[in-house]
Amino acid sequence: MKSLTIFTTLLAVTAAKKCIVKAPADDVTDVNAPAADGNIASDDEAANVDEPIADDIDSADEKSDAEAPKGKLPASFKWGAATAAYQVEGAWDTDGRGESVWDYFTHLYPKNVESGDRTNPDSTNGNVACDSYHKFDEDVKMMKIMKANHYRFSISWSRLFPDGVAKKVNGKWNVNEKGAEYYDMMIDTLIENDITPLATLYHWDLPYALHEKYGGWLDYRSQDDFAKYAEFCFERFGDRVKGWITINEPWVNCVGGYKNGPGKAPYRCTGEAPRKLQNDTTGLDLEGGCSYEIGPSQYYKGAEVLPADRAPQRLEEVWCSHNILIAHAKAVNVYRKKFQKKQKGLIGITVDGEAQIPWEDENTTPEELENNKKYANLAAEFRIGWYSDPPMTGDYPESVKQRMGKDMPVFTAEEKKLLKGSSSDFLGWNTYTAHWAEQAKDEDGKLIEPPTEEEASYENSKKDMWDDNCRGRAPGWVCIPPTLGSQAGSSWNTKYGPTIRVGLNWLYNRYKSILKNGIIITENGCAQPNYKVSRANDQVTIDYFKSIGKEEYADAYDESIIEDESNIEGTILHDTYRIDWYKQYLENLRLAYVEDGVDVRGYMAWSLIDNFEWENGYETRFGMTYIDFYNDKELTRIPKDSLTYLAEWFTENVEQE
Ligand code: GAL
Repeated sequence: MKSLTIFTTLLAVTAAKKCIVKAPADDVTDVNAPAADGNIASDDEAANVDEPIADDIDSADEKSDAEAPKGKLPASFKWGAATAAYQVEGAWDTDGRGESVWDYFTHLYPKNVESGDRTNPDSTNGNVACDSYHKFDEDVKMMKIMKANHYRFSISWSRLFPDGVAKKVNGKWNVNEKGAEYYDMMIDTLIENDITPLATLYHWDLPYALHEKYGGWLDYRSQDDFAKYAEFCFERFGDRVKGWITINEPWVNCVGGYKNGPGKAPYRCTGEAPRKLQNDTTGLDLEGGCSYEIGPSQYYKGAEVLPADRAPQRLEEVWCSHNILIAHAKAVNVYRKKFQKKQKGLIGITVDGEAQIPWEDENTTPEELENNKKYANLAAEFRIGWYSDPPMTGDYPESVKQRMGKDMPVFTAEEKKLLKGSSSDFLGWNTYTAHWAEQAKDEDGKLIEPPTEEEASYENSKKDMWDDNCRGRAPGWVCIPPTLGSQAGSSWNTKYGPTIRVGLNWLYNRYKSILKNGIIITENGCAQPNYKVSRANDQVTIDYFKSIGKEEYADAYDESIIEDESNIEGTILHDTYRIDWYKQYLENLRLAYVEDGVDVRGYMAWSLIDNFEWENGYETRFGMTYIDFYNDKELTRIPKDSLTYLAEWFTENVEQE
């Protein structure tokens, strides 16, 4: 193995805070940047966190402003692509791996996953996926093409601990050794190739055994089980892994899996009158229907024990979020207490969420726009701050607590202490699209008032708020235009480059007194448009952007760029829409750094390769590398044009050593 290029070196200070802080070039950056909330920690408070070493790391590697050419990102910029274990590894039952909730639920309800070839039993799950378990060398070749210096991957908990419970007895872990050897191999291979590993501990693939035992994240015991599993990972891999992400997207994990089921495992849904999901469901059933299969759970220690196999309950996603955030904090605590000083790595969480753009059209008055900005901030506190505030400030945003009233779980004093600053090393942010936001109106066009104190509840918490990337929804979650940007290949996925700049500013302004090593974009990317997504009426969107003087976002596309599976050499490999996506988003990221002074330190494109796109199966392609999942037994990796485009962008826009 080569000498280690440790993550800390690559986390060298970009000096963004000190460099070239100009007035924003466009009002896009200040649309909803909030002044710090009352509950945001001051510098002093943030420094209180028991974690002194990130500062040392900073100063050791700091580059002077003079060395960073104006307009370029610094040489220390972390550049790479991301994947997740269940989406790429395959080998679902190889070498002693245990089942995750994704194995279990996709096997039980195969028709809830899209597939173009229902005769192929592997087309509706991650059984084989990209078979990265056996083909990792080929993935590395793709990383090299894009000139990646980092690779973000996730570790499958049930590959290491098939029943989810990690234990160390007499100095020996009960680990599935073969599984651990796979990650040893991956990590070593990356380092030999000068690619720094950035490892995510949890990307939605909870061991099924824990779901059966206590309902997974709905039970407080998940916190300690996660922290123990994390401890094993730090101990085993931490000599080589210097960048850790605890949890990927708590919002999607909890809202997708415990509220909006059956899209995401474990297929719980708490919408109105949930129907019990039948395993003979015909076709993709996203209109309702949930799994009742679950173990007996206790939301918190001492709480009532909820029986096994119960119907989904109100507030499940709220409790899932609560437990997962505490689990994150406990894992960080283990790392800081036992490993960080010696291993000198950094640890943080990855949250997701759309930046919120205040709605504006030619009739919007200045007063209305001001009010919409206020609502954009509020919407961002609900969508992002709910998950990003606790690991920074130690608590939920005031607005969320007030509006949720007694439906909001409360962190104990000890939990708050653990949470506060638990992502101060860095914050990971996954960003794809944007939302418009404004104060909601009733049917007569009258503004809806915020909930009063008595009204505060889960159901009322957002009654006066409106946010979406469309101006409305038709049945089947079809966008009513104008949409915020053009429609990419997934219903929620629209292309609006400024969102990354708006969101980076929002997060950075909120947490700059706490963050020690800035923000990393841990995912961003798009599915090339395809025929499966119903397209919004482009003309309405184009007219809208023209009417507000932002013609550059009126980028409709014609049929010629839509993915055509029968002609791989065409729009699949020549993915011009995706190239334009990266161009727009990366330019906005660059501006956030050079113009706004946002301390953004990395960008991981989603995704390195086409892979198992959850409920969309293999039908929606986010990759920069093509795989013919149905016909090519070898699963040959074929680079798309976007992969080389990213290499070019990197060379031109990132300072080269
Ligand atoms: C993210 C998720 C990824 C990937 C991506 C594209 O929310 O973390 O696993 O699926 O979206 O949908």
